[in-house]
Amino acid sequence: MTVTPAAAVDPSCEDVGGGRPLSARGWRVTVVGLHVVFVVLMGIAVATIVLAPVDGSRALLLTASGVLALAYLLLGAPALSSRDGRRANAYLVVLVLVFGVLAWEEPSLLFLLFLGYTHVWFLAESLRRGVLWTVALALASTLGPVIDWTQGEEPLSGPGGTLVGLTFSIAMGIWVFRVLEQSHQRAELIQELERTRAELAAAHHAQGIVAERERLAREVHDTLAQGYTSIVVLAQTAAAGLPAGAEAAAERLALIEEVARENLAEARAMVAAFSPVALDSSTLVEALGRLVERFGRETGLDTRLDTAALGDGVDLSRSEEVVLLRGAQEALTNVRRHASATAVVLRVSRVGAGESAQVSVHVEDDGIGFDPAGAPGVGLAGLRDRAEEVGGALDVVSAPGQGTRVTVRVPAR
Ligand SMILES: Nc1ncnc2c1ncn2[C@@H]1O[C@H](COP(=O)(O)OP(=O)(O)OP(=O)(O)O)[C@@H](O)[C@H]1O
Ligand SMILES: [Mg+2]
Repeated sequence: MTVTPAAAVDPSCEDVGGGRPLSARGWRVTVVGLHVVFVVLMGIAVATIVLAPVDGSRALLLTASGVLALAYLLLGAPALSSRDGRRANAYLVVLVLVFGVLAWEEPSLLFLLFLGYTHVWFLAESLRRGVLWTVALALASTLGPVIDWTQGEEPLSGPGGTLVGLTFSIAMGIWVFRVLEQSHQRAELIQELERTRAELAAAHHAQGIVAERERLAREVHDTLAQGYTSIVVLAQTAAAGLPAGAEAAAERLALIEEVARENLAEARAMVAAFSPVALDSSTLVEALGRLVERFGRETGLDTRLDTAALGDGVDLSRSEEVVLLRGAQEALTNVRRHASATAVVLRVSRVGAGESAQVSVHVEDDGIGFDPAGAPGVGLAGLRDRAEEVGGALDVVSAPGQGTRVTVRVPAR
């Protein structure tokens, strides 16, 4: 992994302590600090060139300093802010050349290497490049004094300090990169932990909704449904005890019984819809089997699960399986509430191959049927939305007196 000080900045993080390698604000402060150090050291260098006695040409030294300042302004500083690799490299080339001139003309200016090495490490894109640029800078700063010395013009000055600076700079660079690397790994770990925590919270939330629905279903079953059952029984008992000729009272009791039965059916439908068959530890076909079996037991209708056309089996994602299961539940609830059917078949099948393969669940009843075009209600509409969300579809085939077939399809993988 390559980590640079600039690359370690996480712009999404506005100075939250800990965790992230460097906050965006922390980086901006560092960059401003670098600008200040540059201005101060360059000021001292220019003052030295102008005021102190120098061996080399003042004009050349001032020009070199000017070029460095200009390069920093146009390339180095923008590269620090924008992390633009090309500008950074261009600036480092100028930096090495200028140091070559400065060292040759006036070795006493090599205190500026402190600035040079710092810029290298802040702009280098990797540890390897950092080391290479540092060595290049040290060589450029040593070349001039060594040539002068070999020609006997000058005593050897500068290279010793440059070498010490080089060693120190590389050691510092490696250390900083290691620290950043660890910091980066820690930041990734924290992000991973945060992601897992969010997933866990979502799972808990979904689990909470299911638990609450199940609790509601139990409540409705134990209170409302029991109450309606009692009313039905009481109305029947009262009707049986009526004296002959009390037709008006018998009619009212029959009405009471009918209304109570209708509401009992609604309450039971609600219980069925609110106690979802769990997919947790079972396959889709097993869950559908349990759903059909429970439906048959509760309604007394002739029910059947047909998986003959399933072929290779079901290879769906969890969300697609849930769409099919909830589709079957809604369709069966509709059969219970609206169809007055005597038999229901739930068929799971797989059609097509490759990209166009689909798994579908059909719920077919022999009830009163209806005109799908004019059917109000949110149940089927919601089902259509859920199916389309996963790239599937909903088909309703029905006509008055013809029974109903509801099909939910989802793409297979
Ligand atoms: N199997 C069926 N047999 C006969 N009629 C049906 C059947 N399924 C649906 N319908 C008709 O279609 C209508 C719309 O169904 P939908 O499930 O969208 O709404 P709903 O069941 O009335 O209410 P909910 O929003 O609670 O589901 C129903 O009101 C009913 O008239
Ligand atoms: Mg419905």
